[in-house]
Amino acid sequence: MSRLARIGVFTSGGDSPGMNAAIRAVVRTGINEGLDVYGIYRGYEGMIDGLIEPMERHSVSNILQRGGTILKSARSKRFMTYEGRLQAFQNLEQHKIDGLVAIGGNGTFTGAQIFEKEFNIPIVGLPGTIDNDLYGTDFTIGFDTAANTVVQAADKIRDTATSHDRLFFIEVMGRDSGYLALWSGIATGAEFILVPETKTYIDNLTRLLKHDMRMNKTSGIVIVAEGDDMGGAYDIAAKVKEKLPEIDTRVTVLGHVQRGGAPTMHDRILASWTGYEAVKALKDGKSSVMVGIENKQITFTSFDDSINKKKSFNFGGLELARILSL
Ligand code: F6P
Repeated sequence: MSRLARIGVFTSGGDSPGMNAAIRAVVRTGINEGLDVYGIYRGYEGMIDGLIEPMERHSVSNILQRGGTILKSARSKRFMTYEGRLQAFQNLEQHKIDGLVAIGGNGTFTGAQIFEKEFNIPIVGLPGTIDNDLYGTDFTIGFDTAANTVVQAADKIRDTATSHDRLFFIEVMGRDSGYLALWSGIATGAEFILVPETKTYIDNLTRLLKHDMRMNKTSGIVIVAEGDDMGGAYDIAAKVKEKLPEIDTRVTVLGHVQRGGAPTMHDRILASWTGYEAVKALKDGKSSVMVGIENKQITFTSFDDSINKKKSFNFGGLELARILSL
């Protein structure tokens, strides 16, 4: 057991629905465990600038159901330098903070891992990203809400696609990961799902589209993850249009609408549970680990693994979506 007395909590990187529920869980569990809890604003940026304030039980009242993050978030270039990290550590020392809970994704944990090694401050992570690309947890906080946002949008687009006999290319987030595209694509009956995990061949896509037309399909949806190797939805739509000018195509880029909104029940529970466990883990002397849930069990995965190991991608889901869409 460590002699932890005062912890800091922060959110970093792209925000995700459920981060507030995670902050609430960390603050209230910390207080329940007899710890002082401090909120660090704007992620690593705020740690460097000393934007650190004490939090009470009521500081997190009425935020469980709200999207975004009350602590705000940022991507910090300064934290990538030793000078930036030293400044951040000195600010933590000044506030007598002796443990941290970091809520974020890959970049957040990469920074946390270096920081922990350099300054020997225990850090436990919570997986907060809509991308669901972290090894060591079945789902990340925010993914379910974002996927449901895509589903709602794609269902609406399906209506107009059908009315006008059009092929829609819907771009979803995921610079390096296709989980959002895959899951929302299956859930909306997308005819095609294009993800960074597989190579996209335009000739193959156009051949299958011709096949669909022969089967009297008059409309369709292609879900494109923004990080597809052939480009975003606009690029791919243009390439398809070049080969099949007779198809009436439209493009919708969903963008940051996917990052906002009230978290689903799933994200609230994931955030609450992992937030609670993160504080307990810090108290137990754990560090440099991400708390996740795998097969309904709480798991602790080293930052090293969560950053460097590749979460398995369900390639079979791509085929499943295609078969079920015909
Ligand atoms: O990592 C989450 C994410 O939403 C990615 O899916 C997306 O590529 C990126 O963040 C966008 O980041 P920003 O909001 O900084 O433009």
